[in-house]
Amino acid sequence: MAVRGLLLAFTSALAFAGAFDFVLSYDRPPARKSLFVRLSEDVDSTSPQQVHISLVGEDKMRISWITEDPTPATVNYGTSPGKYGFSASGSTSSYQYVMYQSGEIHDVVIGPLKPQTIYYYRCGSDSAPEFSFKTPPPQLPIRFAIAGDLGQTEWTSSTLEHISQSNYDVLLLPGDLSYADTNQPVWDSFGRLVQPLASQRPWMVTQGNHEIEKIPIIHSDTFTSYNGRWHMPFEDSGSDSNLYYSFDVAGVHVIMLGSYTDFGSSSAQYGWLKADLKKVDRKKTPWVVVLIHAPWYNSNTAHQGERESIDMKASMEDLLYGARVDVIFAGHVHAYERFTRVYKGQANNCGPVHITIGDGGNHEGLATKFLDPQPNISVFREASFGHGELEVVNATHAQWTWHRNDDDELVASDTVWLRNLTSDPACEV
Ligand SMILES: *[C@@H]1O[C@H](CO)[C@@H](O)[C@H](O)[C@H]1NC(C)=O
Ligand SMILES: *[C@@H]1O[C@H](CO)[C@@H](O)[C@H](O)[C@H]1NC(C)=O
Ligand SMILES: *[C@@H]1O[C@H](CO)[C@@H](O)[C@H](O)[C@H]1NC(C)=O
Ligand SMILES: [Fe+2]
Repeated sequence: MAVRGLLLAFTSALAFAGAFDFVLSYDRPPARKSLFVRLSEDVDSTSPQQVHISLVGEDKMRISWITEDPTPATVNYGTSPGKYGFSASGSTSSYQYVMYQSGEIHDVVIGPLKPQTIYYYRCGSDSAPEFSFKTPPPQLPIRFAIAGDLGQTEWTSSTLEHISQSNYDVLLLPGDLSYADTNQPVWDSFGRLVQPLASQRPWMVTQGNHEIEKIPIIHSDTFTSYNGRWHMPFEDSGSDSNLYYSFDVAGVHVIMLGSYTDFGSSSAQYGWLKADLKKVDRKKTPWVVVLIHAPWYNSNTAHQGERESIDMKASMEDLLYGARVDVIFAGHVHAYERFTRVYKGQANNCGPVHITIGDGGNHEGLATKFLDPQPNISVFREASFGHGELEVVNATHAQWTWHRNDDDELVASDTVWLRNLTSDPACEV
């Protein structure tokens, strides 16, 4: 064992000499195969496919699924298997993308639901299989799983496997979902890949550059597939766009921002964010968490100097700092990095912690080169696939852990306790 460890350390050191100033003993795994999840044989043209759920308001859930042929947009549900005392109906839509015609995309909001309760549900026809989900707790503690830039490779499967073991309540995804990149059937594959998890717990997502899918002249609309398939509860937070919204869950106010839509000080998004932050009641939601796609702080050599990082930060950092946002999660860079509390490039005890968690497992591979030397505001950085967990324990304490997919085992590689900001009198606003 010792000899093997030494050998690994030695080969890693050789391979990455100069590029890394950390974890030389870690045997960095290579990229893994891309996946395409086919339709299983037992799924007929009206069977629900690609089932995923998302929170709507304090006590409702949106159930989204796709069928090949038209079926009623109806969900039957209840708290015991096979017994559906409740029923709700919604709407069906579809979209066209060049030669591709999507399936029937069904969208049904159910509730009111009891907190921390398992519900059993059936989508569409009476012969459809039963699914189940658990609603989040009514108050703290709550556990979030967080992973960005998922894509669809065997590393993605490994990440999802670890997330499924984590006993999380709500998943947060800071953009770049399917990596379909205009090839629409790949979105269907993604829906099938995530269904086992996303049908059981709410998946709350925001979009990345891979969701834009604009082709000049041929398909000039943006976010067609993303908006068609991943309807988030923007209407409930007074937003006019599926690209930015917020929601409250168990004492946490979560804000999803759009890095690839207007964010300047005269934009609709900016106006909405300002109003949303003003409405936050820290007694009800002592924690405020924000997700973006392109990180505002980043010491990887990948994605330096992009306007979605520099200009969006210049526009919105004051708002988030002034509102004492606790943590900002980003994706985009395919690596993990945690910063200390920062504001305007400097350590600041009243600023948010910035965390890049773009290491979900997509086919583009890892962003392995970091700037040298490591900036003093960057606390931990490593280019490995994995996911994060944020357990908000109570009004003053939350624990963040980053789990690397190391050798397929669930390993916590970075962990830190966070204190709520205004428990520090110096940060009172
Ligand atoms: C932080 O926790 C303290 C103690 O519970 C509470 O009084 C304060 O309102 C909290 N601050 C925020 C911003 O939630
Ligand atoms: C961190 O680095 C910046 C410049 O990169 C410098 O201005 C600042 O004083 C440093 N802070 C500490 C605590 O060393
Ligand atoms: C909040 O959780 C932390 C960490 O578990 C604990 O030390 C602290 O006493 C808790 N605070 C309250 C008010 O329960
Ligand atoms: Fe990205």
